[in-house]
Amino acid sequence: MLRSVAAEHGTPTYVYDLETISARFAEIRSAFPGASVHYAVKANALGALLRHLCQLGAGAEALTLGELERSLRAGFDPSSIVLGGPGHTPELAHRAVQAGVGLVSLDSRGAWKVWRESAAAMRFVVRLNPAFDPHTHEHLATAAAHSKFGMPLSEAVAVAEEVAARGQLAGFHVHAGSMIDQPIVAELIVEALEPLYQRFEDLEVVDVGGGFAVPNPPLTRFAEPVMDFAERHGVRLLLEPGRFLVAESGVLLTRVLHVKSGGPVRHVIADAGMADLLRPALYDAEHPIRTLGASSESSAYAADAPSAAAPGDFRPLDVDGPLCENADRLGRDVEIPFPTPGALLAVEQAGAYGFAMASNYASNLRPAQVVVEDGHVWLASRREKPEDLWRLETDLLPYPSPALGAREVLYAVMASLTDLGHGAAALHRFASDGLRAKLGSPADQRRTLSNEAFAPLFGGSGLVVEDYDERDDVARAVVLAQDARFVVSLAKRDHGRAAGCWLLTALARDLPGA
Ligand code: LLP
Repeated sequence: MLRSVAAEHGTPTYVYDLETISARFAEIRSAFPGASVHYAVKANALGALLRHLCQLGAGAEALTLGELERSLRAGFDPSSIVLGGPGHTPELAHRAVQAGVGLVSLDSRGAWKVWRESAAAMRFVVRLNPAFDPHTHEHLATAAAHSKFGMPLSEAVAVAEEVAARGQLAGFHVHAGSMIDQPIVAELIVEALEPLYQRFEDLEVVDVGGGFAVPNPPLTRFAEPVMDFAERHGVRLLLEPGRFLVAESGVLLTRVLHVKSGGPVRHVIADAGMADLLRPALYDAEHPIRTLGASSESSAYAADAPSAAAPGDFRPLDVDGPLCENADRLGRDVEIPFPTPGALLAVEQAGAYGFAMASNYASNLRPAQVVVEDGHVWLASRREKPEDLWRLETDLLPYPSPALGAREVLYAVMASLTDLGHGAAALHRFASDGLRAKLGSPADQRRTLSNEAFAPLFGGSGLVVEDYDERDDVARAVVLAQDARFVVSLAKRDHGRAAGCWLLTALARDLPGA
């Protein structure tokens, strides 16, 4: 199946199996009966996955405005959304209140200030920094005393008292870290929370975060102390698993482009790397990699098939990416047979924090995402195209293109004069030396262009190019802007050698009779 996905959708491509997500959700449900499960959207925010988790009965844990909007769009009941994270803005608070978000985790006194103003009806958990070692990679150890997360006990108490005084305290929150595989961490969490649940009355929930490692975290041993704690204090248990629910559902399909076997380490250059899956570069994460064998359409690479795929070659083998960085790799000392160019590789356990952390570094086109559901395979998010890379950009001027004629350029220049700042900068950049000299220094130009004579040029609406006339590679037009007329001339620099490099040679208010 993965080979046919690669044949149809190309590589690199993420492939997610929804059945695995359902199975993991059921495992959590049975290990923590009665708990509310809030999927940590940051792990993978693909709409198809969010909708699936929502249909399974999960709530969401969101961090940013983007995650909140995605969760709402996927259909999560706003009251099942927990809003966490250390950086809350008044805009986020406003949107959350308006949408009817159920619960907010307060990470600092500053965050409380933001919410205090805008959310009289909101329920809060106060996030404790439990100051213990959760036995994981330092980047993922949020429980550590030196981490930025949560508040030390005394500050958590002080903030909680203010929240409780307004009748808005629902409980406390600890998220000890990610990739946690030691059951002792659950005991440390409840130990840290105990004094708070003794001190405050009428609490409703305890939020112990997410963080289960993959594969095979000791779920039931983790569950014991926290279930017991929740029961003892008569509060509902909230969980925020991200990785556990989606990591094993996903593989990253990548194709071997080249192989290099001349040095002490054998290198496999794949078409995916750190810009598609950052975890190996950032956390030294080890994702299992397996070979799927060459497929028929891989013949383009067959010509540089290695001569050194010799048996008995025990030099280390790295699977690297296509970018110009040593850290650009998918795996180190990978134990697979030395592949041939064109071979397909499956990088496993990549469903969490894979595409979610993919980037456009080096103008990487982010991979396609394919979903497998009951044997049906569908493209849930297409691969990026080069034009996606600049779809958010605006520039002062139209891009040079041999396809653009003077008329189109002139229209585009006129249309870019939306305001004086933009317009002055565009005219300055586009002006010929002669015209620029006439316009003077940037300050003079601004003054000239903002005076009564030129002011009608800016403001966008109503620009019409009239009486267009193209001779000798110079385009002239009369431009109507509001109720004024301007004469604009445009020439092709170097008579077309640099295609599409246009120069504005004259710009004058056309005062008939003046
Ligand atoms: N709740 C809170 C407050 C969190 O900060 C996180 C993750 C979770 C829940 C979900 O944790 P999970 O169950 O997925 O471990 N980029 C890293 C992981 C960062 C996790 C950040 N917080 C990685 O690729 O390993």
